[in-house]
Amino acid sequence: MERSNVFGVVLAGGIGTRMGNVEKPKQFMEIGGKPIIVHTIEKFAVNSEFEKILVLSPKQWIKHTQDLIKKNIPNYDNIVVIEGGASRNETIMNAIAYIEKEGLLDDETIIVTHDSVRPFVTHRILEENIRYAKEFGACDTVIPATDTIVESTDHKLITNIPDRSVMYQGQTPQSFKAKRLRELYESLTPSEKTILTDACKILVIKGDSVHLVEGEVSNIKITYPYDLKVAESLLGGM
Ligand code: CTP
Repeated sequence: MERSNVFGVVLAGGIGTRMGNVEKPKQFMEIGGKPIIVHTIEKFAVNSEFEKILVLSPKQWIKHTQDLIKKNIPNYDNIVVIEGGASRNETIMNAIAYIEKEGLLDDETIIVTHDSVRPFVTHRILEENIRYAKEFGACDTVIPATDTIVESTDHKLITNIPDRSVMYQGQTPQSFKAKRLRELYESLTPSEKTILTDACKILVIKGDSVHLVEGEVSNIKITYPYDLKVAESLLGGM
């Protein structure tokens, strides 16, 4: 079979401190009777364009993640679970290292990186990410900002109010030519690496263009306990 050279990268290497759940990271909490991460992996698993789906989880949760996949996903042969990194970007780098180790990395290799805690990603969003990453090299999923964005660099006084009509809220997936992303990431200094928590920002500050993919208001990130309630109601309405 011909290779698609497109890899799904489900980021589940975090521990969800803002959720405040000490038992398990938020991606393993349930909505609609199923772990959040399972809902997310399902969206990738039904898309035949992914050559492999890499799921990156904290080391001590790898076995649990594998068990969940076996139990819940019918065709799990092309899904692998590997260890995440100390930061979100390091987790992405672990995914690229795995692709390279398997001898599958070349200049055209595409990674579609996605938060495991955004279970409402749609087929259309995934398709457009793949298409734009192939065509332009990088893309980011966004929605127009609904609230006015107010900047305050000292957290006390307003320093700027940018024109809302040109503001967007970042979601995921964020998709890239994997080798280019790694090359730029490796050119950062250690302090730049700490500041640049957003993978797209790495390209932006290095002068590479990143195209926009239209997201969905429903493509929420589950961060706080409140978001679990929103997620439950979104499931109820779908
Ligand atoms: N993530 C990751 N590897 C890390 C840190 C985060 O793969 N080292 C993933 C998380 O698992 C999550 C996504 O990146 O799916 C978005 O990050 P965020 O919502 O900030 O998750 P956490 O870091 O787990 O949450 P918190 O910041 O509340 O601790």
